Amino acid sequence: MAVMKPVLYLLVCAAPPVQFVDGVIRDAQAKGWEVCLGLTPTAATWLEERIPELVELTGRPVRIAARRPGVDDGWPPADVTVLAPATLHTVNATALGLTLSWVAAFACEAIGKRWPLVVLPCVNSAYATHPQFGRSIATLREAGVEVLFGEGGFVPNEPGKGRPEAYPWHLALDAAARRRRVGERN
Ligand SMILES: Cc1cc2nc3c(=O)[nH]c(=O)nc-3n(C[C@H](O)[C@H](O)[C@H](O)COP(=O)(O)O)c2cc1C
Repeated sequence: MAVMKPVLYLLVCAAPPVQFVDGVIRDAQAKGWEVCLGLTPTAATWLEERIPELVELTGRPVRIAARRPGVDDGWPPADVTVLAPATLHTVNATALGLTLSWVAAFACEAIGKRWPLVVLPCVNSAYATHPQFGRSIATLREAGVEVLFGEGGFVPNEPGKGRPEAYPWHLALDAAARRRRVGERN
């Protein structure tokens, strides 16, 4: 009998580590996850030429927009969702319940349904000191989201000094393994 793999939704925003998303997909697959990849519209424009390769790698459609009512999205239910790299825009949108992108909409729904959600921000120190950012992080944590920011998580860099190749994707995968839910699936 085939053993079903746990399903990881990897929801990706438009920040420079996105160029290494294939690496984290491979790492997650090597750890036993089936990975479904979602992109914000801006991230999708950044990865436009690579989407066929990412569809092949995951074996699933790459989702960018909400499905049409009554149409199957081709994804199995998630065990855990990881939002990374999470931009200032999508962190704030999720905390404020603004569902303009499908990625933010899914994250908002996951919060409401108490589905496991891990957020690994990617912001420079200027974005991080915007007054709404701290409020958004606090709101998400209060709502039960695991936000990997600060010590033990993403530490903001000075503007222009980011190292996308060193983005700590592994922290999100470790958290996902911890948060994998065993009960109800969505
Ligand atoms: C080269 C470049 C690098 C960027 N890096 C970041 C970043 O590290 N963090 C961030 O929050 N926004 C960053 N942005 C801005 C986001 O791409 C922008 O706010 C976008 O609207 C985010 O949309 P999304 O959250 O829907 O993906 C960057 C933009 C550019 C052009």
